Amino acid sequence: MIFISPQSHKDLILNKKTLVSTDGKENYSIIKGVPILLPEKTNPDWSRELIEIIFWEYPEVIKKIYEEIDSGNTSDWNEIYVKYIKEVHKAKENILNAFNSYKQKETSLWITGDKSGSITKSQMKDFKKYTKKSIGKKRTLTKIKGTGNLWDRYRYFGELVCKENTDKILELATGAGGGTASVALYMPNNSELYTVDIGFECLGNALGIGKYQKKTIIPVCANFWYLPFRDKTFKTVCTVCGLDESREIHKTLEEVSRVLSDDGRFVVVSRNNAFMRQYRILEPFGFTEQETIEILKDCRMYSDLNNLDEICNSLGMKLTSRKEYRDNENIAFSVSEYHKNTKQKTIDDLLNEAENLVPDEVLPDLPFMESSPDVHDWYDFEHEIWELGEEIRQLISENNNKLNETQIERVIKICLDEKAKRGRQSFVMLLGRKKYCKHSERIAHLLNSDDVDGQVIDTLYKMGAGQYVEEIKPFLEHNRTWIKNKAAKYIEKYE
Ligand SMILES: C[S@@+](CC[C@H](N)C(=O)[O-])C[C@H]1O[C@@H](n2cnc3c(N)ncnc32)[C@H](O)[C@@H]1O
Repeated sequence: MIFISPQSHKDLILNKKTLVSTDGKENYSIIKGVPILLPEKTNPDWSRELIEIIFWEYPEVIKKIYEEIDSGNTSDWNEIYVKYIKEVHKAKENILNAFNSYKQKETSLWITGDKSGSITKSQMKDFKKYTKKSIGKKRTLTKIKGTGNLWDRYRYFGELVCKENTDKILELATGAGGGTASVALYMPNNSELYTVDIGFECLGNALGIGKYQKKTIIPVCANFWYLPFRDKTFKTVCTVCGLDESREIHKTLEEVSRVLSDDGRFVVVSRNNAFMRQYRILEPFGFTEQETIEILKDCRMYSDLNNLDEICNSLGMKLTSRKEYRDNENIAFSVSEYHKNTKQKTIDDLLNEAENLVPDEVLPDLPFMESSPDVHDWYDFEHEIWELGEEIRQLISENNNKLNETQIERVIKICLDEKAKRGRQSFVMLLGRKKYCKHSERIAHLLNSDDVDGQVIDTLYKMGAGQYVEEIKPFLEHNRTWIKNKAAKYIEKYE
């Protein structure tokens, strides 16, 4: 059964009785208000958010584009998009005008659908046809089988979503069902997964996955912009490419934050940079990467991870973990985890986390990075420990906190622990204050560690520990300029 939501969340709640089933009597009228973004016969998988914006004043062109895709004459949809852009807008200047006028609307815009009307009987018939196909046994089994062979990022996504807070999970963008299948694979039998998409066909995928994985999956046909759930309903909201393949991401994220409970989590797979999705459409018209990113941001679309973090932050969802993946085309995707209203961690919490992250043995250096051939790649734990040291620095500077004696000893212990590798750098930097000068002897020992030597010179300088001139002189010949400069500054002051 697929539940269909009227447009607004105001009088709807997470209750199967108040959402409406497609099997109900009111098949058509109840859909009133569900925004149909796409023309009749359109498979939602074909929709392209950028095209909806470029042609937002020309719904008939969008219809033609999707018809041409549907005809199957060419498999390169970008060719079709570019052809129509050339025909309608001709040059970059006019495309920019289309972006500008969309941008100035400042509200979420419907494109081809009728904002207030119901879908037609023939649309309903089409949707049902698609749905039937999607939940056909053969097709569903193929999808489920695929989960045994999930890409790493799907597997990681499913595990992360189900790591905690699993009683009620909401997924945005059912789409082809990859994310739904990954969550279903890891969620406990007593969890409920609600999955939202504007496309019936996609929801059919969800029905099939639930049936064959024997999990409770409740497909809901609704728009991300008006989620049909009460405030603070879900402990976890998640999505695989729901944000970077839709429009109005600020509005969507407002909804995510609204339906998340206070201690809720938002887990999102997204591209690191949206240019990789859009360049085949815009590059032929002379748009650079930088221009594209700015335009997407202005048009309230997904542009990159920085923008995503910024919006989430402004809505009280704080980034708590991020893992990066690259696919065959070397397009970078990230799995990001945000916590809503994260209770402010204390310095002791952060120290505990850092201590727990240090491995039990000294791990060998990773191979050199492709981008910097003289720098070894970083282990995840090195990044994570580094970040924790930085978080402690921020806590100290923002809240006028001080490290107590026990905490100072714990920081020094992390600095001296070679198993923490370069993660220690930010901890060494924490000690760069005059009041910690009495600990300089132990820190100066680290001058012979490649992992932290540059930070140590700077910290000794800031501590006012001037007795290490001889030990620091050799660094004047160091092959890294910034370390050479730190050493020169130290020698100039203390020699
Ligand atoms: C890339 S697909 C999702 C892929 C899917 N999560 C997977 O892992 O296979 C994006 C989906 O978002 C849906 N979508 C886009 N904008 C939407 C909106 N405003 N409301 C609801 N669904 C939307 C589209 O219908 C499409 O099915």
